[in-house]
Amino acid sequence: MSEIRVLLDAESLAQAAAEIVVQKAQSVLAGRGQFNLVLSGGSTPRRLYQLLAAEPYRDQINWLNVHVFWGDERCVPPDHLDSNYRLAKEALLDHIPLPPENIHRINGELEPIAAAQDYQEELANHFGDAEPSFDLVLLGMGDDGHTASLFPHTSALQETTRWVIANYVSQKQVWRITLSAAAINAASTVMFLVAGADKAIALKDVLQGEHHPQERPSQLIAPRSGDLHWLVDQAAANLLKR
Ligand code: 6PG
Repeated sequence: MSEIRVLLDAESLAQAAAEIVVQKAQSVLAGRGQFNLVLSGGSTPRRLYQLLAAEPYRDQINWLNVHVFWGDERCVPPDHLDSNYRLAKEALLDHIPLPPENIHRINGELEPIAAAQDYQEELANHFGDAEPSFDLVLLGMGDDGHTASLFPHTSALQETTRWVIANYVSQKQVWRITLSAAAINAASTVMFLVAGADKAIALKDVLQGEHHPQERPSQLIAPRSGDLHWLVDQAAANLLKR
């Protein structure tokens, strides 16, 4: 199933996303008993994390059986202002009863290649040697159509076997650690959160433009057998043909 939902504004988007996270978590926890959630970086998900960390959403999830991962991380220490882990820790993890061993942080403080190998091993330990089967992957999208740290014309876009890659992003002259599109597409549900007028051109190109995933890496995301939700606000959806 694939859907595009246009919400009034960023707050409505965060609330709709919180409803989906709770619903997915409850159904997976009732079934398999463990919920594997991949958190997104960037600024958009902060409000979602704050909602999940407070009533009425907080106590609707049995956090003891939730495992959190990251879709990507900057190559910085965990207490750095740019750290995606720090964002999630401050907005969510410090406010929920998630066991520390269920937090699977990307060790951005390591040398990039080592950090990627380390996370690949972390996933292999958690999922066994089977492919990672995340229950829900949260993603943002940049105004250049990137997602996670899959940036246009970068080497990570070609990866077909590894789940985690150290990706040099020449546009920013930085290394990033990112899940591969293949690892994301193995998930049972993927949810993009896209808000703001600055994303309107990229969103139109990604969703309604020609298929050029090297230029618009978000077009690589198509869960093989899972559901894809695009939650966008009206400002970001402004150029979409309805
Ligand atoms: C990151 C994210 C990245 C982000 C987009 C959108 O580490 O920055 O993984 O893919 O989701 O750049 O960022 P905003 O939500 O800040 O617009």
